[in-house]
Amino acid sequence: MAIEKDQALEIKELTHRINYLNYQYYQNSVSEVSDYEFDQMLKRLQELEELHPELRQPNSPTQRVGGTITKSFKTVEHKYPMLSLGNTYSAEELREFDARVRKSVGDEVEYVCEQKFDGVAISLTYENGQFIQGATRGDGMRGDDITANVRTIRDVPLQAHGQGFPDLFEVRGEVFMPLPVFEQLNIDREEAGEQLLANPRNAASGTLKQQDSSIVAHRKLGCFSYGFYCIPNPFETHSESLQAIQKWGFKVSDTWRKCNSIEEVLAYINEWEERRFELPIATDGVVVKVNSYALQEELGFTSKSPRWAIAYKYAAMSAVTILKGIQYQVGRTGAVTPVALLEPVQLAGTVVKRASVHNANEIKRLDLRLGDTVFVEKGGEIIPKITGVDFSERKADSIAILYPENCPACGTTLVRVEGEANHYCPNEKGCPPQIMGKLEHFISRKALYIDSIGPKTVEQLFSSKLVNDVADLYDLKYEQLIGLDRMGEKTVNNILEGLQKSKEIPFDRVLFGLGIRFVGSTVAKKLVEQFPDIEALKGATYEELVAVNEIGDRIANSILEYFRNPEHILLVERLKQAGLQLKAENNAPEIESDRLEGKTFVISGVFQSVSRDELQQLIISHGGKVVSSISAKLAYLVAGDKMGPSKLEKATKLGITILSEDQFLEMIR
Ligand code: IVH
Repeated sequence: MAIEKDQALEIKELTHRINYLNYQYYQNSVSEVSDYEFDQMLKRLQELEELHPELRQPNSPTQRVGGTITKSFKTVEHKYPMLSLGNTYSAEELREFDARVRKSVGDEVEYVCEQKFDGVAISLTYENGQFIQGATRGDGMRGDDITANVRTIRDVPLQAHGQGFPDLFEVRGEVFMPLPVFEQLNIDREEAGEQLLANPRNAASGTLKQQDSSIVAHRKLGCFSYGFYCIPNPFETHSESLQAIQKWGFKVSDTWRKCNSIEEVLAYINEWEERRFELPIATDGVVVKVNSYALQEELGFTSKSPRWAIAYKYAAMSAVTILKGIQYQVGRTGAVTPVALLEPVQLAGTVVKRASVHNANEIKRLDLRLGDTVFVEKGGEIIPKITGVDFSERKADSIAILYPENCPACGTTLVRVEGEANHYCPNEKGCPPQIMGKLEHFISRKALYIDSIGPKTVEQLFSSKLVNDVADLYDLKYEQLIGLDRMGEKTVNNILEGLQKSKEIPFDRVLFGLGIRFVGSTVAKKLVEQFPDIEALKGATYEELVAVNEIGDRIANSILEYFRNPEHILLVERLKQAGLQLKAENNAPEIESDRLEGKTFVISGVFQSVSRDELQQLIISHGGKVVSSISAKLAYLVAGDKMGPSKLEKATKLGITILSEDQFLEMIR
């Protein structure tokens, strides 16, 4: 009786917890636990419900396929439900799956093995070869209509190629953010001081939920297609359909393979356990599908998933180890980031010794103590991170982590800006990692691209007291360098040549190279469009700065603060004397007419035939000006789909002329 009562409680708690995790995952793109832990919880709940069917909660997650539906997009019904897959972590269970299949349909079974891509499931509908709808999985029965966003994904053909496709069909696939794009996005976010995205899947799912499809287009999402749905189905096997859709222009990963036995399936799984890290997308296992559609039909479905397919998941993506210490790193902006030092542990093919913990809040949130047993997770090539503490293993002598009050590099008292997660060292001119970090940023690829100077040389130049800031680089003389360690004539000449060549690098990259907080390379480009030389930018007011598209309060204040510092003014002056480009080359869009002369525009919403950037260029090239906020002085509001209601209301109140996309294009025609 007591056991029954305990299990009733466990069912209730698991139901509640899994529903919550599903909600976090599907609505908010947050994974609070590892996939492995999640699957274990779900499995446990399934077992308990089987033991006590009468205790199953009406809202049990075992009865549903996935999450809930996001409100902001139109909801669409799936013609073919988007089911999930049963999954397993063991070869034994895979053999059991094979045995079940053979028992039902006989011994003549062929399988197709595919990668299990760790992205976001998507359904793509085509009518007469034309892409007409893209939808998310939602709860499996109904999902969000995200057609406009999907149209921006290059791997999704807008028109099927060739011939021979049915009048109406659906393709299913996985949308993902390629690892290099994800890493770059996080670099940009870090530069801009924004919170980092946890993994490429969250990044892809967050991107697909963007209301503005031009943002989606910038994120360069990819899509691997792995399923074909059509009644009547013109193909006999899944593999034939993969080949066909590939011919029609869908991107099919060429990693799939036909297998004639479960042993061949296991060999495929073993082979890809390591090789999957070569792929541009994170994968977390292998999907095994019965190849013949006739047999698939015979096998049918359970309430949640097909009986003809199973996912084998690799388990080692998370590991358990001991937290030995915390090291504090000082970045070029002075931000102090804690890095966890771990007892080395094998994880996803590499030995992990360090993990990121982001900031002091994260240490608090995880309740980390030195000596703790911690869970470490890694996805693809991303730096591993600590996801939790095994409190049952906490030793009595574990040591609380005290965040340092002084800079670990220079001893200066750290400051913490109200509302920000990071601690900063304010000693910009005297803190070695900040000085060297700024130099490294300045010479990096996206900035001045001086590749004859590497991090080692930076350190050498700094420690020999030749260089303390970026302007010092341009004062370097042959005689000073030739005397240094490991500096031969050729090296010195290369360095000087590299510096000389950097004087041709355009203004926006020099501006980025200055390392102003929150001014990443994209922001630098936007700024240069509106302020064609450094003097204009230096003199810009807060109002002028925030009037620039995509420049908000935080960036504007950071720029104002930068130029308030006389040392920065001097630095910029020295760079100008050295001959760097602090003026934009004639980058203004070509002037086509003066039809919009003296008129100001606000652009809002999403447009059909032009992107927001193109719209802005059009306005400028016809003599108009684009601002970001609505005031009585505004001439026009160009309104696209899904524009904010408050903007519309304000514009209507002030009696501002509202133009549709077509009306605007008509105006300049
Ligand atoms: S087939 C009825 N193939 O895994 C089964 N799914 O747990 C339909 N996934 O929602 C799915 N790679 O997002 C299939 N090669 C692949 C896959 C794959 C990733 C995802 C998909 C699906 C989930 C099922």
